[in-house]
Amino acid sequence: MYPYQITSLAQYHEVYQKSIKDPEGFWAEIAAHFSWRKPWDKVLSWNFKTPEIKWFEGGKLNITENCLDRHIEKSGDTPAIIWEPNNPDSPTRTITYRELLFKVKQFANVLKNNGVKKGDRVCIYMGMIPELAIALLACARIGAIHSVIFGGFSARSISDRLQDANGEYVITCDGSYRGNKEIALKPIIDDALVNCPFVKRVIVFSHTNTPVSMHKGRDVWWNEEIEKVEEQGNPDCPAEEMDAEDMLFILYTSGSTGKPKGVVHTCGGYMIFANYTFVNVFQYNPGDVYFCTADIGWITGHSYIVYGPLSAGATSLMFEGIPTWPDAGRMWEIVDKYKVNILYTAPTALRSLMSYGVEVVEKYDLGSLKVLGTVGEPINEEAWHWYNENIGKKRCPIVDTWWQTETGGMMISNLAGVTPSKPSFATLPIPGVQPVLVDEKGAELEGNNVSGNLCMKFPWPGMLRTTYGDHERCRLNYFSTYDNLYFTGDGCLRDEEGYYRITGRVDDVLNVSGHRIGTAEVENAINMHTGVVESAVVGFPHDIKGQALYAFVICSEHPRDEQLMRKDIAETVSSVIGAIARPDKIQFVSGLPKTRSGKIMRRILRKIAEGEMANIGDTTALLDPAVVEDIKTGKL
Ligand code: WTA
Repeated sequence: MYPYQITSLAQYHEVYQKSIKDPEGFWAEIAAHFSWRKPWDKVLSWNFKTPEIKWFEGGKLNITENCLDRHIEKSGDTPAIIWEPNNPDSPTRTITYRELLFKVKQFANVLKNNGVKKGDRVCIYMGMIPELAIALLACARIGAIHSVIFGGFSARSISDRLQDANGEYVITCDGSYRGNKEIALKPIIDDALVNCPFVKRVIVFSHTNTPVSMHKGRDVWWNEEIEKVEEQGNPDCPAEEMDAEDMLFILYTSGSTGKPKGVVHTCGGYMIFANYTFVNVFQYNPGDVYFCTADIGWITGHSYIVYGPLSAGATSLMFEGIPTWPDAGRMWEIVDKYKVNILYTAPTALRSLMSYGVEVVEKYDLGSLKVLGTVGEPINEEAWHWYNENIGKKRCPIVDTWWQTETGGMMISNLAGVTPSKPSFATLPIPGVQPVLVDEKGAELEGNNVSGNLCMKFPWPGMLRTTYGDHERCRLNYFSTYDNLYFTGDGCLRDEEGYYRITGRVDDVLNVSGHRIGTAEVENAINMHTGVVESAVVGFPHDIKGQALYAFVICSEHPRDEQLMRKDIAETVSSVIGAIARPDKIQFVSGLPKTRSGKIMRRILRKIAEGEMANIGDTTALLDPAVVEDIKTGKL
C-alpha cells in the first residue's frame, strides 16, 4: 500500500473533489512522499495563454534518487527489471534495485568520461534491452536530457530529430532482435549521422554481434567504456541536483502539421504524476510483477516501464520480442513463466492475438493475473470482452487508460477494482485532472450525454511544458484552438452516467496499431518520390491495426507498372519516416477534391476510403465535383 493509494469508490469521489477544490494542496501532499533535496517554494504557477506552467518551483531533486537510491535500504534485493529476451531459449536477466543503481552509476560515469554534461541532449536508439532503461536513467542521473527514438524510425527521421534537438551524443546498439528478424541499428545511425556532423560521440552496446563499422574518434563501445570506469575503481556517481522544472526528456511525436515535435517533460511534476497514476490505476502492491508490453521508444514505455514503476519500487518486466513469435502464445507464456500480476498492453496486440483462437491461450496458466490494462487507442467492445473472458477469466478488472505523449501520464481511466469499468470507456478522470468537452466554437458542453472535443481546463503535474526549440508551436498546437484550454485533439463522449469515452482524433493525426502518425508527414514523404505530383492521406478502419493508411496519389505520368509504383512509394515512405508509416492502400488518381481556395476536402476522401461511396455528402463547395466520381470509380 502506498499512502496515497485510493481503495474505494467513495474515497475516489472524495479525493477527486479535494483535488479540484484545492489542487495545490492535493498535489503537495502527494509530492511530500518523494525524496527532495530541497522543498519547493511554490506548488503551481500557470498561464494557458502563453503557455507557462511550473510545478514545484524551486524544489530540487533527482528522479533517479527517487527511482533507485531511496529503495535500496528496504528493497535493494527486489527485482527492479526482469528481462525476457526475444529468443525464449536465451538467458533471461533479473536486475535488483541495488544492481540497477550500480549499473546506472557506472554508465553515468561513462557518459561523463565521454564529455556529456547537464543539459546536453542525448539521443537513444536501441532495442528493448535493460541497457536501454539504464541509458535513460544514467542520463537523468547526470542531468542530461534524453530523447529516445523508436527503433522503427528511419535514418532520415533520426537525423531530423538529432538536428532539432541539437543532440551531440548518441547511444545505440549494434542490432536488435524482433521475432525472427535481426535488425541492424548501428548502420542506420551511421546513415543518419552523415547529416549530423555535430555529433561528437556514439556509444554502441554490443547485443547481436552484428558486424558494424566504428568511426575512429566518434564511436566507442559501451563495454570498453565500462571497463575504463572499472579501472578507475568504479567511482561513485552522486546524482546531479535538478530543479523541478529542469528538462528530463524530449520525446518526438506526430502532430497534424509538418514534422514531429519534441514534447518536453520536466523532472518534478512528471515523476509525481507517472508514479501517482501507476500506483492508483493499476493498484500496484509491493511484490507484484508488472508487465507492460510497450516499447520504451514511446511515452508508454517511458512512464510505465521506467519512471512510474521504478519510482514506486515496483518490479517491471521488460520484453524484447513480439507477441506473435515464436508463436501467438508468447505473451501468455511470459505471464505464466513470471507469474505476472498486472498486464498492460495495446488493443492492436489483443486484436491480433484474438485471431489465433483461444487454444494458444489455454496452454498457459494465467491464474496469477489480477489487473489488465489497455492503452494507445480506443478498444472495441469485442476485443474488450475477449480480454476479459479469455485472459482475465472475468476476475480481473480492465483499466482502459486514456492519455497522450503530451500528458506524461494517464488522465482518464478507471482505477482497477476500485472504480467501475465499462467496455470501451476510459470512464472517469484521475484526481487532479479536469476534463471538459467543448463544441466547435469552444463553448463548454455541460451535463451528461454530450459529445465534443476533449480539453483540459486546469494543469496537471505531468503535462508538457513546451515543444523543444519552438515554444510558439506548443502554444499554437495545444493552447490556441480554444481560449484558456489545453486541446487534446481527441473527440469524446460523456454518457448519461458521466463516463468518458474517447471517440478518436478529430485532427489529421491517425492512430495505426496504437502509433501516432500525422497524415501531413506521410504526404510529405510520398511527395518526395520523383514520380509523384501530389498526395492526400486519410485513415480507414482496419480490423487489427484499428486504423490504416489510405493514400490518394497523383503521378506526373501514368505509372507504367502500377504495382511496382505502389511498392516504390511505400519504400520511399519507409526510408523517409520508417516502415510503420507505409500506406496500406495506394490509389492513383487524376485529381483531388479541392475547394475553390485549394483545400483538400478530406471528409470526402475518408468516405471513399471507408467504402461509403453512396454517402459522400455535399460536394457543391468543390472546384471540380467531377473529380469525386473519377476517384469513386477508380478512373485515372
Ligand atoms: C489515443 C499514447 C482511446 C488518443 C499513451 C490519444 C486512446 C493518442 C487511448 C495519444 C485510450 C490513447 N482510448 N484512445 N485508452 N489512449 N489514445 O501520444 O487518440 O502515442 O490522443 O500516447 O492515442 O497517443 P500517444
